[in-house]
Amino acid sequence: MPLLKVVYLSNNTKLYLWKITEDFDMLFSQVKLKDSSLARLESMKSESHQKGFLAVRMLLQHNDYSDFDLFYDEFGKPHLKPQGCSIKDVEISISHSNDFSAIAISDSKVGLDFERLKEKTLRIAPRYMDVSHLKNLSEQEKIKKATVVWGIKESIFKIKNEEGISFLNHIFEEDFSFEDKKATAKLIFNNKEEKFQIQFDSVEDYIFVCAFEDVK
Ligand SMILES: CC(C)(COP(=O)(O)OP(=O)(O)OC[C@H]1O[C@@H](n2cnc3c(N)ncnc32)[C@H](O)[C@@H]1OP(=O)(O)O)[C@@H](O)C(=O)NCCC(=O)NCCS
Repeated sequence: MPLLKVVYLSNNTKLYLWKITEDFDMLFSQVKLKDSSLARLESMKSESHQKGFLAVRMLLQHNDYSDFDLFYDEFGKPHLKPQGCSIKDVEISISHSNDFSAIAISDSKVGLDFERLKEKTLRIAPRYMDVSHLKNLSEQEKIKKATVVWGIKESIFKIKNEEGISFLNHIFEEDFSFEDKKATAKLIFNNKEEKFQIQFDSVEDYIFVCAFEDVK
């Protein structure tokens, strides 16, 4: 199955999901890659990682971009070149997880995380979150909520892209209910406090989380 889902997160932000059912050759034959991307693809050890990388390029092509429009800064954060004569910056965030690749494209700064639900995320929760936010929940609900919180922290990290940010000590989620599909969080780092709006949902046995800077 190619493009699985487009989620309209706001007027100017869309999330695109690719469920990878194609084999490597099929994906490879469909995308055009620049030399540096070909070299990166060849250096990847697992075919699953390679397919995730190629599926991101399929999603770019679906949006009239290509691998040639995507570049990375020194920390690995992806950026898109503006299209045509547009002077407006377009922001992108990328995530892969097992059989899925996901991108969020926005006019505003955006961070995306896509995670498979797994027991390990709950097991290591004390390392990255306020575990009081997990009380009075069933085991399955705890796994889902902990995965959202992990995604909140990853997605805020992806917006900020700053060395030294600790998930446990610098990023704080307000308590939320999974059913709300939205939350707020703040980053307190380097004597500065910044707020973020969060949107999340489940897709099959995965969770996506998108963070936006709170511009209010
Ligand atoms: C960089 C990081 C956010 C990637 O997340 P991940 O869950 O490993 O992987 P994902 O599939 O969700 O995301 C990978 C994508 O993130 C993007 N990315 C990588 N570095 C990035 C950065 N510094 N800023 C923003 N985006 C980044 C890339 O697009 C990458 O995919 P691509 O290289 O194929 O294009 C993560 O590895 C990281 O360093 N997290 C912060 C460190 C930390 O504090 N961790 C644990 C604390 S308890």
